[in-house]
Amino acid sequence: MMIENKKLSRADYQSEREQVLQTWPTGRDVEFASAIARHRDMAGRKKFPEALARAAANGRTLLQPRAGVALLREHTQLLQDLSPYCDVLPTTVDAYTRHNRYHEAQKGIERSRAAGTSLLNGFPPVNHGVDGCRRLIDALEKPVQVRHGTPDARLMAEITLCAGFSSFEGGGISYNIPYAKSVPLERSIRHWQYCDRLIGLYEEEGIRINREPFGPLTGTLVPPFASHTVALLEGLLALEQGAKCITLGYGQAGNLAQDIAAIRSLGNLAKHYFSEFGYDDYALSTVFHQWMGGFPENEAQAYSVIALGAAAAKFAGATKIIVKTPHEASGVPTMEANRSGLQATAQMLNMIGDQKKLETDEIAQETAVIEREVHAVMRKVIELGAGDIARGAVLAFEAGVMDIPFAPASVNAGRMTPIRDNNGAIRVFAKGDIPLPDDIVAFHREKIAERATCEGRAASFQMVVDDVRAISASTLIGRPQAANLDSPF
Ligand code: 5AD
Repeated sequence: MMIENKKLSRADYQSEREQVLQTWPTGRDVEFASAIARHRDMAGRKKFPEALARAAANGRTLLQPRAGVALLREHTQLLQDLSPYCDVLPTTVDAYTRHNRYHEAQKGIERSRAAGTSLLNGFPPVNHGVDGCRRLIDALEKPVQVRHGTPDARLMAEITLCAGFSSFEGGGISYNIPYAKSVPLERSIRHWQYCDRLIGLYEEEGIRINREPFGPLTGTLVPPFASHTVALLEGLLALEQGAKCITLGYGQAGNLAQDIAAIRSLGNLAKHYFSEFGYDDYALSTVFHQWMGGFPENEAQAYSVIALGAAAAKFAGATKIIVKTPHEASGVPTMEANRSGLQATAQMLNMIGDQKKLETDEIAQETAVIEREVHAVMRKVIELGAGDIARGAVLAFEAGVMDIPFAPASVNAGRMTPIRDNNGAIRVFAKGDIPLPDDIVAFHREKIAERATCEGRAASFQMVVDDVRAISASTLIGRPQAANLDSPF
């Protein structure tokens, strides 16, 4: 049967749950009533939705790192050490768990114990089980979110939410297209309907859990409209299952005006589509991800990328910022590198926070362009699905109407090519089958032509490749020569 954007019945959820909880032995410790009691007893300061609501009301931007190691004691210590430097905490999940390979995660835990150091690239919550995860939550004084990249996160959601995590990242599109090669999109959307329905059940008991679709996707030259469309669809899918606290995300592109416009348009668009589909009882917030592409190796240069992201997030008015670290180019950061990324970001947030809202014609124009692009794609998605956005999303990827640059999923067309313009904003070089309006396509073409003239070369795939490498090599735009650089690289 074709996927439908329809709230799962309790009976369907319950019978599926019995299967899900049997997929690894720790599943048998999941118990809904004790989960509800636990969340009820938890202090407000440890609840993610409360932190977001307070930040949104006060115009604050919450700081969040990424962090995860294999063993419970070390992971707890890491988060305790990071806690004074941030507002909300993460638990970044290891790659085996993301692929439901719990046997291998278990071996990773055992080897890490023997080696006395983490040999996994994150924390494996399913293996540590409800008890282990509860001890983690009990040892921390701030809200904790699960951050991963899992097409089928059903068991992970059951275990972590039962333990007291109060925010869950991901979605059926955003944790498939950029992460998996051959998981059918219909299947991952269906698995995420289960996760969202679970969160809906918590909501029915008066327990609010934050849901955050993963905004940046591949993090590589993704035009704002392309990631916004995914974020909006995943927001709508979550609302249908009864989630009510939605945080939509976006990854820094690098041009300040476009980045500010992206976050501002994301809020406007969410209100528009949530209301169009009949949802009015929800809490909305936004999250800005510092640059998700390649980073400079040099730590001093990395701080500059981090700081530009912090400035964009604060000028844009994002509710939360996820920080990078000066170790980004080399792998999983140490606690100290993570702390440095947080401190550099906090300084910038404070300095921008002391200034009034930045309004320029360029920001207004970029906002209008993004909104028109999103409306054009969304209209087609809705039309393809005959009003059903789950179905529409599957058909839109098959048709190339939704198309994410550099994504590994075989269903992703990869016919849309992005490129930077002469000002560093991300434009559409080849639109593939994305139904962008003609005047918008002409606008992109004109902007790209300006750059081609300036560089004395035709826009080409080489230019795109140069752009992908640019930031790690110290510039925003991949120019052919370094003649006009401000520094002696
Ligand atoms: N600890 C800290 N950061 C992590 N990332 C991935 N795993 C971890 C971890 N265990 C970061 C990467 C990259 C982003 C996608 O997540 O460094 O910045």
